Amino acid sequence: MSLLEKIIETKDFLVEKGLTEPEFGLILGSGLGELAEEVENAIIIDYADIPNWGKSTVVGHAGKLVYGDLAGRKVLALQGRFHFYEGNPMEVVTFPVRVMKALGCQGVIVTNAAGGIGYGPGALMAITDHINLTGQNPLIGENLEDFGPRFPDMSNAYTADYRKVAHEVADKIGIKLDDGVYIGVSGPCYETPAEIRAFKTLGADAVGMSTVPEVIVAAHSGLKVLGISAITNFAAGFQSELNHEEVVAVTQQIKEDFKRLVKDILAAL
Ligand code: HPA
Repeated sequence: MSLLEKIIETKDFLVEKGLTEPEFGLILGSGLGELAEEVENAIIIDYADIPNWGKSTVVGHAGKLVYGDLAGRKVLALQGRFHFYEGNPMEVVTFPVRVMKALGCQGVIVTNAAGGIGYGPGALMAITDHINLTGQNPLIGENLEDFGPRFPDMSNAYTADYRKVAHEVADKIGIKLDDGVYIGVSGPCYETPAEIRAFKTLGADAVGMSTVPEVIVAAHSGLKVLGISAITNFAAGFQSELNHEEVVAVTQQIKEDFKRLVKDILAAL
């Protein structure tokens, strides 16, 4: 089956389940999936039941699709994403974004836990731009002309209007929201201190193992994007050692602010 046929099969399956009018896709990163529990009138589908869908294997990722009302908007929330480091092909990593587009979403809010280069643990960062250092590109292969051009412009991958709204909302509710550049790597190992020094020189403020592939596919298809990083640790070299437990623990501390912020942004978009 071609990629396009898979997208259509999955879209038809989800429409059949009642996902008829999503406005926003919500990709919830490590430890941030709880927000999906606040979705009202929810239709919840296990990833395992969705045709052509990947499998979620990381601690802190639930593996459920939740559709319904959040802050007065119709959202399609992913509790758990697919990472390249899990062995998923880029087609699988970015497939949910393709399906969000096919279902008629106007935009996506992509969130992640990230290591801080310019910011420290506990910071929330609106992504202004990214650097793709994964060594991969999810658009390699046949171009889906119905979605976007062969050589898509990435100058405005992160939608300025969405970020403006995010800042207005953050100011209004008194949550500090920084701006910065996210550098995406493949993982799964954390970076070396030398790599982090290099990334700092390259202009990165945060580093992580997700988001970049999904945003490339979203921007290709004309989906608007808001990216938010929850900084969970100082990147390598700025603190003595790194571990996933700390990433999940710091996310627990940030998550109330994170949830409030994303809900209020959704209401304002
Ligand atoms: N590096 C890469 N990915 C991450 C980090 C980090 O320090 N923290 C959370 N995700």
